[in-house]
Amino acid sequence: SAAEKGGWSSFMAKEVSEEPEAVANTVRGRVHDGQVVIPELEGLDDLFTGIRRIIVVACGTAAYAGQTGKYALEQWTRIPTDVELAHEFRYRDPVIGEDTLVVSISQSGETMDTLMAVKYAREQGAKTLSICNTQGATIPRESDAVVYTHAGPEVAVASTKAFVAQITALYLLGLHVARLRGSLDADAAAQAVAELEAVPEKIQLVLENEQQHIEQFSRWMADTQSVLFLGRHVGYPIALEGALKLKEISYIHAEGFAAGELKHGPIALVEPGQPVFVIVPSPRHSGELHKKVVSNIQEIRARGARVIVVAEEGDAAVLPFADEVLRIPLADPLFEPLLAVVPLHIFAMGLSTAKGLDVDKPRNLAKSVTVE
Ligand code: G6P
Repeated sequence: SAAEKGGWSSFMAKEVSEEPEAVANTVRGRVHDGQVVIPELEGLDDLFTGIRRIIVVACGTAAYAGQTGKYALEQWTRIPTDVELAHEFRYRDPVIGEDTLVVSISQSGETMDTLMAVKYAREQGAKTLSICNTQGATIPRESDAVVYTHAGPEVAVASTKAFVAQITALYLLGLHVARLRGSLDADAAAQAVAELEAVPEKIQLVLENEQQHIEQFSRWMADTQSVLFLGRHVGYPIALEGALKLKEISYIHAEGFAAGELKHGPIALVEPGQPVFVIVPSPRHSGELHKKVVSNIQEIRARGARVIVVAEEGDAAVLPFADEVLRIPLADPLFEPLLAVVPLHIFAMGLSTAKGLDVDKPRNLAKSVTVE
């Protein structure tokens, strides 16, 4: 009903507006004296001490949250981390054992593909930890440990606030494990905690500054047949998530690519008028990633692409080659994905609405898929 939507036109619109709280509520109670201590993991240090490998299993948007979290998990804990779709993992006879921590991510906690992967991991002797948004759901009950996301109930089929909460939970997990293993120096850990705590306010700024602008240009894109998304490093899974959201609720062909892969194939798709979203890494990112992505933008622009960039405040290098510039506040590179995804969620909603579709209930999809 309209009351349940709290004055918003859809549950999805309401839930995107709740992304700041989803992050804040997930962090709450888990930071003590500038350090991450997750109360649910108290007494479970054994889960992390003998670990040589982390495998994240999930489906859909949750898998992209996993791919995003991988960079921070590895950087902070120095434990090799892989992310795999739960249904692929389960059926390929993976090499796992008691030195493996399998982290599942599921908003509902009931996705059958993910549940089967967790059960399989346990049978093989691996340790299992669930990141879940639903208290007492099946997947956390079948796991050795659980870290709940506190995004609140998510009603729209396409996941939004749960996604940012899932990345937040992975970051908290990374900082918790890094503290136990002493793999991150105290200053860097404190800095990461401060960055995480600053995220909700920054998401709020993106919502306030960009919502109208995005809704406006999604209207003239209502007839678009296909949209491409490019990103690099942590921006890569965000490109994948942006494309998935568009497929889910606007029924438009959309694909996300690693920007570095452009020249190895996808650039052949670019013809005049093709809309391409580019998630631009901060110029403060190591490895000159910013320059490389700016040169990707020049390449697609030269072929007539309609370029929509998501770039940090003050990044002027993108201006000459962009048709639209969506700004996100400054953040440490690992925290950019939590900001960069917000305009993509708004865009998918805007386009779906412009096409006259039901944003909350896309055809053929279920909120939670309880069959394999
Ligand atoms: C379904 C939904 C997706 C969701 C996926 C995983 O396919 O349509 O939006 O990302 O399941 O759901 P989960 O509850 O496991 O996070």
